[in-house]
This record gives sequence, C-alpha cells and structure tokens, in this order.
Amino acid sequence: MSEPNTCCEEPEIDFVFLDRIIQEEFGGRKEAMIMMMQTIQRHYRYLPEAAMIYLSHSIGVPLTKIYEVATFYASFSLVPKGKHILHICTGTACHLRGSGGMVQHVAQKLGIEPGKTTADMKLTLETVNCLGACAMAPVAVLDEQYHPQATVGLINELLDPILAE
Ligand code: FES
Repeated sequence: MSEPNTCCEEPEIDFVFLDRIIQEEFGGRKEAMIMMMQTIQRHYRYLPEAAMIYLSHSIGVPLTKIYEVATFYASFSLVPKGKHILHICTGTACHLRGSGGMVQHVAQKLGIEPGKTTADMKLTLETVNCLGACAMAPVAVLDEQYHPQATVGLINELLDPILAE
C-alpha cells in the first residue's frame, strides 16, 4: 500500500487499496458508502477526487451524490489535511473558559488561520462548536486524543515536538 503524499499535490491513488476497502471490507455495497469514504479519508487525510471517481464507478453511485455527502458532513474534507490535526472547541462552555485565546495563540504560533494547514503539511488547526465534553472545558483534541482543561502551556507541550519533527 502506498503512503499518502505529505505535500499539497494530488496523491497517487492506490487502486488495490481502494478495491480492498470497497469490495473486501464492505462488499461493494452502496449502503456502506459513508464508511468507505471515512476509511479513504483516514488513509489520505482527505477525499482525493480520483478516489471519489473510482468509488462512484465501483458502487454505482453518482459522483454528485458522493460530493453531496462529502460536503454535508463537516468531518469530510476535500482538501488535504496535515499529518496531525488539532481541534480546539469554541463552543460556549469552552469559549467562557478561554478557548478563544488558545485558538489565537495556535494560529499565531503556526502562522495559519483556523481551518488551515501549515505549508509543510504537519498540522491542521480546526475549531469545533462542541465536543460533547463541556464539563472538561476548555477541550482540545490532538489526533483524536482528548485533552481536558487545556491551556496554552499544554498546547505548546503538545505542538512543540511535532513542530520539531
Ligand atoms: S462547549 Fe466545548 S465541549 Fe462543549
């Protein structure tokens, strides 16, 4: 299986990998389309156009329908994401406990706006409205690992080793 690109170009699509997901893992069933898309996104860190075209042909679902789903769910991305993804919750509970300052700090530290990825594709900064963990506010999530009562200091501890990679 080929590794996804770490740069901003369209990655080379591994059709053997796609067949394994579409046919072997999900039996080519169109009802499993969203799960297939989730697996493809986990691999490439977004939904490459060529992979969506192949998925469309393989399961007999129009490409427009696939893009409709891809744009409806915020968890799908049509642009490449960084190797690491930092989510900072900006919902009411987290906002009241200073998450806005954390977002500002990270944006400044990385030189990117929320929703964007660093030029070296190491890190994507995302904000979310609520992570369903308000009692632990403010909450940050790095690569799906929750960090309750997050602080700027903790964020620095998490990001500095990544930036030094
Ligand atoms: S508002 Fe942040 S977890 Fe709910």
